[in-house]
Amino acid sequence: MHDPDVFRAMHVARFHAEPAIFAAPGRVNLIGEHTDYAEGFVMPVAIDFATLAGISPRSDGKIVLYSENYGEERSFEAAALPAKAGQRWTDYPLGVVSILAGEGHAIPGFSLSLWGDVPLGSGLSSSASVEVATALAVTRLIGVSYPGPVLARLCQRAENEFVEANCGIMDQFISANGAKDHALLLDCRDLSFKLAPIPPNVALVIANTMVKHSIAGGDYATRRAESEAACAIINSHRGGVPFLRDATLEDLEKWGHEMAPNSLKRARHVISENLRTVAASEALLKGDMAEVGRLMAEAHKSYSQDFEGSCEEADAMVALAQDLPGLIGARLTGGGFGGCTINLVEQDQAAAFVEALGSRYAAQTGIVPQIHICHASGGARRLR
Ligand code: GLA
Repeated sequence: MHDPDVFRAMHVARFHAEPAIFAAPGRVNLIGEHTDYAEGFVMPVAIDFATLAGISPRSDGKIVLYSENYGEERSFEAAALPAKAGQRWTDYPLGVVSILAGEGHAIPGFSLSLWGDVPLGSGLSSSASVEVATALAVTRLIGVSYPGPVLARLCQRAENEFVEANCGIMDQFISANGAKDHALLLDCRDLSFKLAPIPPNVALVIANTMVKHSIAGGDYATRRAESEAACAIINSHRGGVPFLRDATLEDLEKWGHEMAPNSLKRARHVISENLRTVAASEALLKGDMAEVGRLMAEAHKSYSQDFEGSCEEADAMVALAQDLPGLIGARLTGGGFGGCTINLVEQDQAAAFVEALGSRYAAQTGIVPQIHICHASGGARRLR
C-alpha cells in the first residue's frame, strides 16, 4: 500500500482541504474461478496491494476526481452526473456514486483523490479496490454506513450496471470483507462465508505474466454465456437448476450431447471447480496444504483445458513453478486470459522461489515478470 501520509499531503496540496482517508485491498483467488456468477463457491484472499481514497467536501456542487495513477483530474456536476460510462478510469468511482444516488442518497459536491498500487489489468481486482475505496469514502461523507456484504453488492452493481462489465461478486466482496492472515470461503448464493487461516509458514507468491487482462473484454462474457447455455439445457430437463451451482457432473453425462462442445467444456469446468473449491476449503481448515496444492493443480488444468481461460504465458508460469523447491500449489488466478498466477510456497523457500521462477519465465518467454511475496490483509477500512 502507498504511504497514507504522502497521499494526504497530495490531496491537501491539490484541494486545500483535509481528507478522510480509506483503503481497499486488491485480491488473489486461491481457487474457485468463474464460479461466483454461477452462485457457487470461491476462496479469495485480500492482499497488501490497495487503493487509497481521500475525500473532502466542496461547496460548489462539483465532484472532482483525481487519479494519481493516471495523473489526471476530471470534474462533474453532482446534480448532473453522466448516465453512462465513458470508457475511462472515472467510470469506476462515478459508477459507485451513481448507484448510491439511485439508492436515494443526495450526493453533495466533493473532491476525491485515488492512488493505488494494485497492478492494473493483472487479475488482482484493481477496479474492485477502486470501487470499494470510493464507496467507503462517499458513504462516510454522506453519513451512511453499510455492512460489508451490502457495500460489496452496491459496488458489484456499479460494475454491472454502470461500467457494464458483467462480473460476479467475488472481487468486491473480498475487498470489503477480507481478514488478515485468512482466506475467505464465500458462498456466492447467500453471501455467507467462513474464514480459513493461511498457515504462517506458507507464502503467497503472486507472479505477473505481464499479459494484460480485462473483464470488460469479450472473452469473459463469451465464456460466461457458454456456461450459462449449458445450464439452461440442464434446467429444461429437470428444472431446479437456475445456476450451474445446482448442476452435477451426472447432468452433463445425461444431456451434454445436446450442448455445443464449448458449452459442455465450460460447464464441466464450473461444476468441477465448485466441488474442488469446497474440498480445498475443508483441506485448508484442516491445515492439509498438500491437498490444497493438489486441488489447485487440478483447477489450473480445468481452467486452461476446459474453460480455455488461460494463455500460453500463464500456462508457462504454472508449469515452470512445478519442480521448484517449496511449491505447494500454483494456478492462474482471476478472470483469465493473462494476469497473475498464485503460488503457495513454503515460507523459507519463498525468496529463492521468486528468483528461480522469474529467471525461468524470462528465459522461456522473453518477458520479465513481476513477482511479489504478498500477505493476506484485512478488508477495506478507514485509515484516518
Ligand atoms: C473476475 C470477476 C469475478 C470472477 C472472476 C473469475 O475477477 O470480476 O467476479 O468472475 O473474474 O473467477
